Amino acid sequence: MGRVGNTSRRLSTVFGRILRVYSLRLRLVFGSDPNASLSPTRHLDRSEALKIVNIISVQSFKGGTGKSTISANLAVTLAQLGKRVGVVDLDLEGPGLHVIFGVADADVKATINDVLQHKAPVNQAVLDLTSRLKLKDGYLIFCPAGHKLDEILSILDTGFNLYTFKRILEDLARDYNLEYLLIDSHPGIEKDTLLSMALCDYLVLISRVDQQDLFGSGVMTEVASQLKKPVVLILNMVPSSVNEKEASKIADRLAELFHLRVLTALPFNSDVLENLSKGVFVLEKPKDPLTKRFTEIAMKMLEAIETGPPDDPSTTQSTSQPVA
Ligand SMILES: Nc1ncnc2c1ncn2[C@@H]1O[C@H](COP(=O)(O)OP(=O)(O)OP(=O)(O)O)[C@@H](O)[C@H]1O
Ligand SMILES: [Mg+2]
Repeated sequence: MGRVGNTSRRLSTVFGRILRVYSLRLRLVFGSDPNASLSPTRHLDRSEALKIVNIISVQSFKGGTGKSTISANLAVTLAQLGKRVGVVDLDLEGPGLHVIFGVADADVKATINDVLQHKAPVNQAVLDLTSRLKLKDGYLIFCPAGHKLDEILSILDTGFNLYTFKRILEDLARDYNLEYLLIDSHPGIEKDTLLSMALCDYLVLISRVDQQDLFGSGVMTEVASQLKKPVVLILNMVPSSVNEKEASKIADRLAELFHLRVLTALPFNSDVLENLSKGVFVLEKPKDPLTKRFTEIAMKMLEAIETGPPDDPSTTQSTSQPVA
């Protein structure tokens, strides 16, 4: 039990207090009753466009957990499986996906910041990466975020609202006939991550096997449950010192504690780090065991989306895999 037992005890102790703070933040963003304001009969009615697409928000409590890496690799893997996929970089404070996808400034006519600020139509912020990444089956479009200081400061100053963001997602889904729309997010629980959580169908939380991360993932899961969103957790960068049995125990304990599915546990892989975010791992290392793991994650996600969220998440079993 050792490390696992200590982790869960500490998580449980401080959990309730911190959760109250985030419930308050939820109310500040959505009004006095988050559930009522997000009821299907209110302004978040799903349009025809949003009924077709599956919106997946990739989030984490702490920074640097691997959100952008996993968003890019999952998006490419889903496209390789023949799906029509869109990715939006909504990390407006620290955009990074354009680097992983190898997008040069000259390729970008407009960014998602421009669209959110009504300075450009959404199609101007769309880059079709299908042929550039030599994807043979499905397709992949990408909306980059502005990475210049003035763009970042400007959007932080103005912010954006739920309706504008929802309309952008609808336009993307409809105009590009998308099946899956991934949103890469800023870490933490801020207004934009809450909006992304509110509009998504599935929340993919990324966490390291670190007590701060795990604790934060628990808080985020609770916030997501207030918004009635199904959550899956991916443990990332699991150190080699945590063996297969231990990783699996941690996954089971987390599933039980936080009522979520642990989709998988990805090992720390020095090739990913050494790649310096200069490319999409699954394309550069198609034969690496980690690439196989991304295919497994994508297939599990497709299966989970097809079967729908469990009726009672507390009965959900961890579906974690051994750390390769
Ligand atoms: N499984 C892994 N093994 C080793 N390194 C990894 C792994 N996953 C991601 N990394 C590396 O960790 C760093 C952070 O990853 P990434 O930028 O994807 O995190 P992030 O959650 O998007 O960060 P931020 O919160 O700043 O947006 C990158 O250098 C990336 O290459
Ligand atoms: Mg990132």
